[in-house]
Amino acid sequence: MNYENIFDAHAHYDDKWFDDDRSTLLDNIKSKGVCGIVNNSVDLKTAEKSIEYAEKYDFMYAAVGFHPENLDDMPADYLDRLAELTKHEKVVAIGETGLDYHWDIPKDKQKKVFEEQIKLSLDLKMPLVVHDREAHGDTFDLLRKYRPNALVHCFSGSVELMREAVKLGMYISLGGVVTFKNARHSVEVAAEIPIDRLLLETDAPYMAPVPFRGKRCDSSMILYAAEKIAAVRNMGVQEVLNITCENAKRFYNIE
Ligand code: NI
Repeated sequence: MNYENIFDAHAHYDDKWFDDDRSTLLDNIKSKGVCGIVNNSVDLKTAEKSIEYAEKYDFMYAAVGFHPENLDDMPADYLDRLAELTKHEKVVAIGETGLDYHWDIPKDKQKKVFEEQIKLSLDLKMPLVVHDREAHGDTFDLLRKYRPNALVHCFSGSVELMREAVKLGMYISLGGVVTFKNARHSVEVAAEIPIDRLLLETDAPYMAPVPFRGKRCDSSMILYAAEKIAAVRNMGVQEVLNITCENAKRFYNIE
């Protein structure tokens, strides 16, 4: 069956895993039903790459920001540089940024840089893409304090935390994890979240869904997450794709 309106709210096509066949893959991805991709950056170099792809492909957009794992080579004027990049018409968000307590990265620096980018998104009135890995407490302390127009990507919190995010006016995105056997939280969240706050993503090339787990992921594989979500919500797969595509366009102010 052919599906349409697959919108990938969060991917990384600059990753070297795509180096051998990036163009071929992206040249043909619309024929697999993909209508939109937001390439998220992790530093200035990947931000420029994201913009390059967005210029080449009508369905691609860019988010520009510093990921907590990429704080070592940050220029002192990074906020100005990000602000400059957002003047490009296809830059739709600040991101990805946030907190990652899985790795041993100084928490004070992570929080400082996250807070600065939250403020940048508010100053520029742009959406914010948030990375929260094993850092729910501190991440949500800052989100509560500033209430940015945010998407918490690869959401890994409980149903209660999802409800709080929704109450704060935020969106969440889910991807391949909902197809994993041990993904109880994600599946509960997928079943309970108000459908108008849900976006789909791959985080490609990572987080490939079952049956491709561990392999390279691309945006067309969102279908597997959509099938799982449709099943737990008693909805049609195309209906889930249509609604999440509309949600992504609303969140990122596309068209
Ligand atoms: Ni990511």
